[in-house]
Amino acid sequence: MKTNPLPHEKILYICLNERETGECCGGKGSAALHGKLKSAIRERGLSSRIRISRSGCQGRCGDGPNAQLFPDNLWFSGITESDIDLLLDKLTEDSPSR
Ligand code: FES
Repeated sequence: MKTNPLPHEKILYICLNERETGECCGGKGSAALHGKLKSAIRERGLSSRIRISRSGCQGRCGDGPNAQLFPDNLWFSGITESDIDLLLDKLTEDSPSR
């Protein structure tokens, strides 16, 4: 196994899980949120520093869409398009010191 340093300062994992029955982030528009955030990061020229990634179920399906931000240790739930600017602020601000 090789070990490599992560190239990104921050990673936002957005749940894109879909279920045939029951609540799921995919059924609440998470794919569109993922696309808009990815485009916004690309348009700002931040793709080399910030990654918008997809995840499977984060175990909070009823609260979705959900996203986890590292290394900030923040877990967002109930995300709507009106939260995109706030998420971009979180992605571009300095991480809290640990
Ligand atoms: S489907 Fe997104 S947290 Fe379960």
